[in-house]
Amino acid sequence: MNKDFLSISELSKKEVFELLDLTDSLKTQKEVKPLAGKTVAMIFQKPSLRTRVSFEVGVVQLGGHAIFLTDEGVGLGVRESAADVANVLSRFNDAIVARVFNHQLLLDLAKHATIPVINALSDLTHPCQILADLYTIRQHGKLRDHVKVAYVGDGNNIVNSWLELASIIPIHLTLAIPFGYEPDTETLNKAVNAKVSKIEIIRDPRSAVNKADVVYTDTWTSMGQEQEKTKRIFDFWEYQVNGSLLRQAKKDVIVMHCLPAHRGEEITDEALDGPQSVVNDQAENRLHIQKAIMATLIGKKK
Ligand code: CP
Ligand code: NVA
Repeated sequence: MNKDFLSISELSKKEVFELLDLTDSLKTQKEVKPLAGKTVAMIFQKPSLRTRVSFEVGVVQLGGHAIFLTDEGVGLGVRESAADVANVLSRFNDAIVARVFNHQLLLDLAKHATIPVINALSDLTHPCQILADLYTIRQHGKLRDHVKVAYVGDGNNIVNSWLELASIIPIHLTLAIPFGYEPDTETLNKAVNAKVSKIEIIRDPRSAVNKADVVYTDTWTSMGQEQEKTKRIFDFWEYQVNGSLLRQAKKDVIVMHCLPAHRGEEITDEALDGPQSVVNDQAENRLHIQKAIMATLIGKKK
């Protein structure tokens, strides 16, 4: 891996599978402490439950100490430039974990920090989530070449990271996304041009989930888009994952959602709480995969 982990496109296929295997071994070997005596500074510009807790718990389980910094305290890019924040945090810490509105802030932090910077979600991508999701798909015995993943909903940061993964490992990725809500054009083009996966954007959720192994959805209104919520509920109403939609998929389909869910909007209680749902495994696996990422990036640093 490079110094930082900002997006899945930085990884090779071999590195992706090495991370999955290291995740397996760290789950069982609790005595491994590669972060002993090390500190991780965590800057969050947006709310978080899973990401914050899984990183903090992961750092502690690996023997280190996490320092949670709210953006009101840091003022990343406002009170101080990302470069100045990166320079200073590099003098005290062994890594920076950052959740930002503007992806450029992560690039600036990484450019100036002498320590690893890990993307804990940006407007553009959410790589730790998608690696945890891949691990979850493998855990449920679904990972094979061209596994059919149907994503229904907004072409957001989650979709961009799926596309980056699809540039590396072969997936049949069908995106049911309404007109005007497509993923990042550059990320989409790169994924298509990589010719590793079959990638389709269609408008009809029912055809998208036809014979799918995995049905994935995420909120219609991501953090920072709250003022568009009413319009989005109107534009997305046909893109709900519910029992009727799931009956189009394979009988043993798994239902995924990165959470937080907006019950009754992108997903119903029936789908989220039903026997096909693996959403809590996804959440738990954030801890395990991030431990592997941190052990690889930070653990090797003397
Ligand atoms: N899935 C996820 O990143 O959740 P949080 O926003 O709660 O961290
Ligand atoms: N797309 C969502 C993901 C939350 C984990 C958001 O950015 O708010």
